[in-house]
Amino acid sequence: MKKLIAVAVALVGFTNHPSRAEDKVDFARQIRPILEQNCVKCHGPEKQKAKLRLDSKEAAMKGGKDGAIIVAGKADKSEMYRRITLPKGDDDIMPNEGDPLTREQTDLIRDWINQGAEWPEVAAAKQSEPSNPLAGLPPDFKPGANEAKAAAKIAQLGVDLRPIAMNIHWTEANFRPQGTSVTDAAIAPLKDVTSLTDLNLAGTKITDAGLATAEGLTYLTRLHLELTSITDAGLAHLKSLTNLNYLNLYGTAVTDSGLEHLKGLHKLKHLYVWQTKVTEAGVKNLKAALPGLEISTGAELTAVAKKEDDTKKEEKKEEKK
Ligand code: HEC
Repeated sequence: MKKLIAVAVALVGFTNHPSRAEDKVDFARQIRPILEQNCVKCHGPEKQKAKLRLDSKEAAMKGGKDGAIIVAGKADKSEMYRRITLPKGDDDIMPNEGDPLTREQTDLIRDWINQGAEWPEVAAAKQSEPSNPLAGLPPDFKPGANEAKAAAKIAQLGVDLRPIAMNIHWTEANFRPQGTSVTDAAIAPLKDVTSLTDLNLAGTKITDAGLATAEGLTYLTRLHLELTSITDAGLAHLKSLTNLNYLNLYGTAVTDSGLEHLKGLHKLKHLYVWQTKVTEAGVKNLKAALPGLEISTGAELTAVAKKEDDTKKEEKKEEKK
């Protein structure tokens, strides 16, 4: 009998113990959602009440205007835990409006702090993910000797070569406003402008032959050819543009066989083929070669209303996550 009681006591003690190995609190799954739903609207990007932010590890560990709020390993010494366990209606309770956290939630936060308040920063890694198309370009690039001369010729057409951002040597050129006055001959000087990363030839009069000018512009990341008379033959000149991230062919005469020329462009992420002769089979074929590529065919535009509905649903789902 004695033995049985001892076992029972041990069992009770055991199940009440908050920090058993299998009870290890998972910050991302169990704590972050509590903070996001109950705290971040006042302690986050929009408002920083008491100079406190609870949306990143660094900020949370730094604490608020009165200093640290989390003492790793010691929930009972942590201002954060004190604030969330005050009686409802107390001046200091957090959240300071609406319902207090549930017992289950405050226990989770207690256990999490007692277990060392680990805060793996996965969100930060996710945010930096949308890859910057310029990231792969050589940082020590120097514009060629003829570049300035070429830029002057282009300027005569009323098109400025502009740096794509402050203190950056990569440039962009937008011929779209000049429209059909832009011919193959007019863009010929571009071949010396190797600093070009963004080129917009939409709505101009360039032809397949004229695209030969682009062959040496290997740092191009964005190219607009929409609403031009470009065909499959023109796309053959793009094979060398291995840094291309965005290509717009909307409203051109390209077909599935033209897309074959794009198969080696491994950095291509966005391709627009709305109102071209490209078929579903062609899209599938290219996607097989370039799995990271998003191809916009315009099919989605014909069902805009439905799509909007769906994206709203998607957004709701995203919010819940
Ligand atoms: C509606 C806005 C609001 C929400 C939601 C909210 N807080 Fe606060 N919080 C405040 C304000 C205002 C202060 C400053 C006044 C005070 O110290 O009571 C504050 C102060 C604090 C402090 C003291 C910081 C310091 O250095 O003085 C802590 C800790 C805190 N909040 C934690 C939390 C936690 C944890 C949550 C979520 C469970 C939360 N808060 C939710 C408004 C909010």
